[in-house]
Amino acid sequence: MTDHVSTHQAEEDARNAALLFHLNGRIVPRAEAVVSIYDSGFMLGDGVWEGVRLYNGRWTFLDEHMERLFEAAKAIDLEIGLTPDQVKQAIFDLQAANGMQTDAHARLMVTRGVKTRPFQHPALSQQGPTVAIIMEHSRPRIPRPITLATVPHLRGLPMTQDPKLNSHSKLNCILACIAAQKAGADEALMLDVHGFVNTTNACNFFIVKKGEVWTSTGDYCMNGITRRKVIELCRANGIPVFERNFSLVDTYSADEAFLTGTFGAQTPVGVIDGRQIGTGQMGPMTERLRGLYKQLVGA
Ligand SMILES: Cc1ncc(COP(=O)(O)O)c(C=O)c1O
Repeated sequence: MTDHVSTHQAEEDARNAALLFHLNGRIVPRAEAVVSIYDSGFMLGDGVWEGVRLYNGRWTFLDEHMERLFEAAKAIDLEIGLTPDQVKQAIFDLQAANGMQTDAHARLMVTRGVKTRPFQHPALSQQGPTVAIIMEHSRPRIPRPITLATVPHLRGLPMTQDPKLNSHSKLNCILACIAAQKAGADEALMLDVHGFVNTTNACNFFIVKKGEVWTSTGDYCMNGITRRKVIELCRANGIPVFERNFSLVDTYSADEAFLTGTFGAQTPVGVIDGRQIGTGQMGPMTERLRGLYKQLVGA
């Protein structure tokens, strides 16, 4: 980290230390935003979450995030106890309480709630769900190109733990991240069960080859909202885009590679498994898509 970046980070950390959070219908200071050690999210990773971003007064793609959250909750048979509009209102209220106008990130978490005994059975959560929102200042930065390492951990099959579930339990991704970091990389590149390039541990993954944009089929990764928006932007702007199977061999010879996610928008990848990708810097297609995305979200 350069001094300039670390000063900004320190300022942001100091501002974030004084924020308010939402916990079960109440707005509380950070020190009071705590959950029981019997909470099913803490104990078992039994919950679902969304990350949402505020740009210039607007929570980006909020309805899509609500749709994904409620679909995931239904899939794990968790009754949130609020309507999507009520969840949205909780976000707006917290934003107002924190006096935030732009460049903020919210993590909205819903768990099955506090259990009566420290065991797995979901019926032991009898007090209703825990709903919590962390909201932090988070200034967008021009990202430095990151490095990836391919790891042995795969994203699962839909009938094990469907990778489309944004579940609290992220151990599969965390193990991948640990393996990548031990290999000296920033993040993990994960393959699918067929050996095709799939996703990273926290973001969706794209390559650019001869003017075409490729990403995985989407069958084994998070149905990322940013991923979908980038595909739509390509289509709307005459950029050939393909959701397809491709291998590490295709990837190493790509002209560019980048990640997508709500938090970082589009992040260039400079090196994969020790091979420089393109110039190792942000490529022209990534830069173009970043510009189009910024326009779309009003950043
Ligand atoms: C594993 C994984 N992939 C991709 C993403 C990016 O999804 P989105 O673009 O909706 O933020 C996330 C974000 O939660 C994620 O956890």
